[in-house]
Amino acid sequence: MMSDRVADRVKGIKGSGIREFFDIAQQMEGAISLGVGEPDFVTPWSIREACIFSLEKGYTSYTSNWGLLELREAISDTIYKESGAYYDPEGEILITAGVSEAFDLALRAIVNPGDEVVLHEPSYVSYKPCTAFAGGTPVCVDTEVGDEFKLRAEKLKDKITDKTKAIILSYPNNPTGATLSRKDLEEIADVVNEHDLLVISDEVYGKLTYNSKHTCFSSLNGMKERTILLNGFSKAYAMTGWRLGYAAGNKEIIEAMMKIHQYIMLCAPITAQMAAMEALRCDDETERMVSEYNRRRRLMVEGLREIGLSCFEPKGAFYTFPSIENTGLTSEEFAKKLLLDEKVVVIPGSVFGACGEGFIRCAYAVSQYEIKEALERMGKFSERHHVV
Ligand SMILES: Cc1ncc(COP(=O)(O)O)c(C=O)c1O
Repeated sequence: MMSDRVADRVKGIKGSGIREFFDIAQQMEGAISLGVGEPDFVTPWSIREACIFSLEKGYTSYTSNWGLLELREAISDTIYKESGAYYDPEGEILITAGVSEAFDLALRAIVNPGDEVVLHEPSYVSYKPCTAFAGGTPVCVDTEVGDEFKLRAEKLKDKITDKTKAIILSYPNNPTGATLSRKDLEEIADVVNEHDLLVISDEVYGKLTYNSKHTCFSSLNGMKERTILLNGFSKAYAMTGWRLGYAAGNKEIIEAMMKIHQYIMLCAPITAQMAAMEALRCDDETERMVSEYNRRRRLMVEGLREIGLSCFEPKGAFYTFPSIENTGLTSEEFAKKLLLDEKVVVIPGSVFGACGEGFIRCAYAVSQYEIKEALERMGKFSERHHVV
């Protein structure tokens, strides 16, 4: 029998720690999941209708590798209207199968073997493995609850070496719900300029903010040329299953990403692209979802604090990241016990980086009823584990 069937670079990487919890929960009757990182809303009707209509009209073919020009134009207008950054729909915008594909393309287009890519943690589980798959070396900067999980320019500077090629910025943040102000971002931009770096800015939660408006990193002075802006339709329009996103940036880099995309993907699905054009006309639907997330956010934060779990107030996305330190359990022990004892799924903070230990991620992309029920069960669990 052949021995080394799987490549070392794949073998060396652990599977996502999040899936494991879903798999257990799916077999368990009566489980409530605060684990999922996807909206519980169905895609708004007008978007689904636009998709159905496009099928009726027979739009079932490939599109240009770049994606439909009309969609790229609509994305260009949207970014310009929201941030003031202008991207040429012909050459500076590439339509992809979700932010996930765009992220992978961005790394593969810019990273040479051994290049370092700096990322802040806790952060989205894909960043480190994708950097490694692209041949780069991920270098992590810890962020702390005492500093609202912000990536600070000074800490970033400490991690930069002559091998650093790029940084990954991910705000509003999954799993903490942290955001950065314009001033915080400007300080990071100074470091980026000083060290001649590129930035992959994952802004997939950019529309889901509660106290202040999101600042697009590439709208800062001098940053458009250095930034690969990633965004998509999954979170803001409840379109996770449609698999649609985009990358916007400097022509040379976007063309390099397009070269990979045309060989591995050809194009994003046409039905999703047709629907996305309608989504960009649906901001009132997004606002309605954001208002509901905001109500759930308050319910969740207050509830967690009442049961004795101290909780940073998230400013964006749909996650809370409470501390479980006073239970004496590791985050993985807490999550496993809570699931087995009370049938509530949460994700251990350690999944999002070593500095996420001592926390759990609870998503509030579920109904208020489910949040209340989950909090009640977590309250009973916490009492048994001497939370004060
Ligand atoms: C920070 C972040 N980026 C990207 C993604 C994936 O987005 P998409 O569905 O557009 O591939 C997720 C999904 O949870 C995420 O949390």
